[in-house]
Parts: sequence; C-alpha cells; structure tokens
Amino acid sequence: MENTVHVELGSRSYDVVIGPGLLDQAGPRIAPLLRRPRVAVISDENVAALHLDALRAGLSTAGLEMVSMELPAGEATKSWPHFERAVEWLLEQKIERNDVVIAFGGGVIGDLVGFAAAVLRRGIRFVQIPTSLLAQVDSSVGGKTGINAPQGKNLIGAFHQPSLVLADTAVLGTLTARDFLAGYGEVVKYGLLGDAAFFDWLEKQGPALAAGDMQARVQAVTRSVQMKADIVARDETEQGDRALLNLGHTFCHALEAATGYSDRLLHGEGVAIGCALAFELSARLGLCAQEDPSRVRVHLKAMGMKTDLADIPGDLPGADALLGLMAQDKKVVDGQLRFILARGIGQAFVTGDVPGDAVLEILEDALATC
Ligand code: GLY
Repeated sequence: MENTVHVELGSRSYDVVIGPGLLDQAGPRIAPLLRRPRVAVISDENVAALHLDALRAGLSTAGLEMVSMELPAGEATKSWPHFERAVEWLLEQKIERNDVVIAFGGGVIGDLVGFAAAVLRRGIRFVQIPTSLLAQVDSSVGGKTGINAPQGKNLIGAFHQPSLVLADTAVLGTLTARDFLAGYGEVVKYGLLGDAAFFDWLEKQGPALAAGDMQARVQAVTRSVQMKADIVARDETEQGDRALLNLGHTFCHALEAATGYSDRLLHGEGVAIGCALAFELSARLGLCAQEDPSRVRVHLKAMGMKTDLADIPGDLPGADALLGLMAQDKKVVDGQLRFILARGIGQAFVTGDVPGDAVLEILEDALATC
C-alpha cells in the first residue's frame, strides 16, 4: 500500500512517496542522496516526542547518524528569531553544502526548514517528512518555503524544492481529530478545484478516511499530491495556474487575520469555510448552479467541519473590515483582488474581475447568521 508521485521539474524533479511505515524505511530511502552518512533533523517538540525515536531507528537501518534540534510547536515559530536559531544551529553542526537537512513536522517546520535550506551556504538540499495531513497534501510539495512577517503570513521566503518527500500515512494516526479535519479541508479543496470525481469519492469515503481507513488515507493523499504535482510542474512560481491551489484562501487569509492567527481558526478550517464562500460567491455571480455551494457545505458539515462564519468562536469584525483584510492578500495585483471562483465542482478558475459589492454582500449575509 504505497504510491509514488513524481514532481517533474527538470533538474529539480523529485518523488513524493506515500504510504504507512515510511519512517521505518527512512534510512534506505534517504541514503542515496547523501555523500556522508549523517543528516540534520529539525522538528517541533510535539512531533519529536511522538516520532523522533522511530525516525532515528529508521535512519540507523542504513547506518545513518542524525543530529536533531526541536523548535516550539505552533505558527509563532515561523518567525525570524526561530529561523535564526535554526540556521545557526545548522552551521554549528557543520552542515556542509553537500549535506541534507530533514524537515520533520507539519507545515510550520516544513516551511521554516525549507527556507533555512534555501539560504544556508547559498542553498543545500532538504528532505520533507511531513507529519500532518495538511503538510502531506499541500505544504511539503511544491517548494514554497518561508516564514511570517509582522506585516503578514509567508511574506519572507523562497522557492526551494525538496529532494524527496516521505509522507508516512501511519503518522496521521497521532493527530487530534481537529488537526486531521483541518488538513482534510485542503483535501476537499483539490476535488473542488479540479476533480469532480474525486469530490464524489470524498463524499462517499470521507467518513471512513477520518475514522482511520489506511487505504482511503493513502488514496486521498496520493490524489491530492498528484493534482498538486501537475499544477506545480506547469507553473512552479505561480505565474498562472498555481493560483488555483488558493481556492478558498482569499476569504481564509482575511478570517485568519481577523482571528489573530490563533487557535480560534486553524488554517485548514479557514480553507474549508473559504471554499464554501467561494462557491457561494460563484453561484451569486451566476457562474455555477445554486446546488453547488449547498453540496460543498453539506459535505463539510457531514464531516463535522467548520463550514460557516458562525462556527468560528468569538466575535468577528464587520464585512467592510473583512474586505479590507482581503486587500492585504499577496494575490492582489495592481490593487485588484484576485479570486478563485468556480463554474461547478471541479471547475475552478482565477479571475481579477469580481465586483467588490458582490463580495461585501456575501460577507454580510454570512455574518448575519452569526
Ligand atoms: N499552498 C499553495 C501552493 O503551494 O501554491
């Protein structure tokens, strides 16, 4: 029960291997990349407590030694002070140009360690071993790396592709139900943006997948990664199609900012709510059938996910303020907001042609239910 997805990027191509038990095989999988039998692993405290011994044992089967450092878990780690610590630690460990660094954790660790690898000695190779569902289906693939700035999320970074991604689906078993479902928001996103048959499949298999069905998990991660790999191969640096991966994200980023990037709303939860709003907006603009947003919301609700603004605990600012937060989005071009809208399930497209009034109306209606 193992799949490999190839990300075709010429000399920067790599494989994403997906299946249970990959930590145990980390040594033989990573050894072919190495000049000397030593790797540096950066993880977070939660992941390290649960899985670092298993990774060490997996590496040792191929005679690989590891040095490791742990950073605090959580979004606040994606900042200059922790980035500086990581880079200086790698230099203290005498990590050389031909060595390999391993990012072992969720999206925060993957993004920070990838960026450290991008700049250390002007760029060294790194391997992603993503441990959250969100990181397995999205952030570990495609080479976006970076940290947050006080001015906004992911504003400092680089495109730096990993040399290998090992997505061990057995590790997903230690996620909380909330974290798992937040990652599932990104899985649903792939069906909604480009594969109606995958969305149909998720409607049927979603509950089994959430309950721990390993075959369903491997299949869902594989399909998501295949879709991401295709898009990244076409548009690595987001000049066009890659923006499709941001379905739901314009709404999501405004909601994350409005909730202070706190525990009130996890990123994947914001993506799910954002996808529902993007379909609502598409229907309101006459682009897709009114049944489509209803179907999206029914599935998210059936999975026990946050679907509406009313599901976010605490107060939210008004529609005008939310629209203002959207205008800070990285996707603004020449002052014009770009949205990912849909002509139906699986038929998303990028547009800069969305009347602000229509967005305001959607937000006002959504807030009215709070
Ligand atoms: N997470 C969106 C992207 O990688 O482009």
